[in-house]
Amino acid sequence: MPEIQILPMNLSVRTRKGETLRDALYRAGVELESPCNGKGLCGKCLVCVEEPDNVPETPHKEITAEQAQQGIRLACQLVPASDMVVRVIGEYKKDEHRILEGDRDPTFSERDTGDAGVGRKHLSDTESLVKNTPAAVVKMSGGICRLQYAGQAQEELKNWPEKSVAKGLAIDLGTTTLVVTLIELPTGRELATTSSLNPQIRFGHDVISRIQKGSTPEGLAELSQCVRDGLNHLIDQACQDSGANPMEVLDVVLGGNTTMLQLAASIDPEPLGQVPFTVALQGGRAYPARQFGLEINPAARVYVPPIVHAYVGADISAGLLVSRRFFEPGGAMFFVDVGTNGEMGLSANSEYLMTSTAAGPAFEGMGISAGMRARIGAVEGVDTDGQDRLDIHTIGDAPPQGICGSGIIDITAALLKLGVIDASGRMRRPDDTNGLAGTIASRIIEINKSPAFRLGGKVYFTQEDVRQVQLAKSAIRAAMEILLHESGMEAGSLERIVLAGGFGYSLRAQNLEAIGMLPPDTADKVYFAGNTCRIGCARMLRNAGYRQYLEEKMQSVRHVSIETRPDFMDLYVESMEFPEIKE
Ligand code: FES
Repeated sequence: MPEIQILPMNLSVRTRKGETLRDALYRAGVELESPCNGKGLCGKCLVCVEEPDNVPETPHKEITAEQAQQGIRLACQLVPASDMVVRVIGEYKKDEHRILEGDRDPTFSERDTGDAGVGRKHLSDTESLVKNTPAAVVKMSGGICRLQYAGQAQEELKNWPEKSVAKGLAIDLGTTTLVVTLIELPTGRELATTSSLNPQIRFGHDVISRIQKGSTPEGLAELSQCVRDGLNHLIDQACQDSGANPMEVLDVVLGGNTTMLQLAASIDPEPLGQVPFTVALQGGRAYPARQFGLEINPAARVYVPPIVHAYVGADISAGLLVSRRFFEPGGAMFFVDVGTNGEMGLSANSEYLMTSTAAGPAFEGMGISAGMRARIGAVEGVDTDGQDRLDIHTIGDAPPQGICGSGIIDITAALLKLGVIDASGRMRRPDDTNGLAGTIASRIIEINKSPAFRLGGKVYFTQEDVRQVQLAKSAIRAAMEILLHESGMEAGSLERIVLAGGFGYSLRAQNLEAIGMLPPDTADKVYFAGNTCRIGCARMLRNAGYRQYLEEKMQSVRHVSIETRPDFMDLYVESMEFPEIKE
């Protein structure tokens, strides 16, 4: 299919059969303004094509003959027939989330990630801790096609077209997002990655609301079908993008939290939501594809990484593979997946502890009055000198539309430094601005009798937002402290803190320390790792040796129930305070 180069973003995308340019751009993360929704009426979805002689015109009253000659076209009326370069000239939104699809931050060093996302050649490194074992191999012998899964007997593979190449899927089944990566198994080459919001989101943003909904037979059937449809749609898209056939998919590694996995497998989630938090789906084993309703080759297996506890699922165990140093003897590191359910592991002197904590969705931009995902117009960074200067950065340098995760951390740290909020989290009121510079004081207003700080346009950071940040950061910090106490390790002895999750990529570790989410003097030990679940699943797909490695290592993990610890509440309340500002 034709390949489209998109300027000025320097992106590229392959179109699908019959797809308009507007829809292809949307998949690439460029959402053109389209008030008429692609009917060719509004004239807003304008692009300029290079070499216009080869591209049919798209007549519209707003496009003059001269403009048409220069290459101006309506993207919604153009179905590309050949490769082309287009420049977006109309209004558009750039969806960072869609573009990134969870790839890791490049600052996360190669030494840590090993082969993460860079292909098969690293799998056989002599340094590798894991024997290279292909997960699924197709062999022809005596005119019969046979399929062999690692460590298992061969079986006949029926209806396998002779020239097909075996494919696999690494799937991150998240509460908020679904990400599917298609990989060619013999080479380990990544063919396509597709992502979308989890369609179950309309039934509630968090795991608890999904458990409640899924605890009746009707609710379970609805949630199960909903996520299966979402996954099958993404699988279909990934196959279309790369010219593959879903029937070529023979192996899947499926990461996710226990609730998402059980709903996809159509297993009652109710026991996950009440003591003793029983998990019915076993991790560290493979299931037939039909168990999860995946429309791929019926002979395919779906491997679920090890599960430690109802709230320490296959997503974090897959993520741990991204930093294999976690399981190195004598290590001293934290791995923290900062999501609504903050899951974390501590590797301390060859002891491996894991727990989870209800952090809430504040760091994902939810539950915050002007919270939004990282896309055009989101406040993603705030700088201050602590006196009278406040620099606000938005994605795409667009007028502020809201605040994303990194902006939420930054503005909290900036307001602390400026003295707009105090250590208890109390925000100054408009009649209490003594000592503040005029440029800062003038931004403080009252909304519904409560103080709020104006960032720009209609975007405010309110007193209630500060409280939400306090709840989230104290839940994570208290859980980290519990694991440190449990291991007898001091925070000062930590060698590194790996942060995974949906924070966005412009987060500054020193501000996480400034608001007290991280222990003092640890900011320079922080590495951001992006979507570690997807990367870990891809690694297990390319090399089944990682499955065995992880299963063995996870046996030595000890789960710590923070809710049964008498000191948790004290630490939680203590961690609500913001630290003193360092000069
Ligand atoms: S979306 Fe309205 S003309 Fe293209």
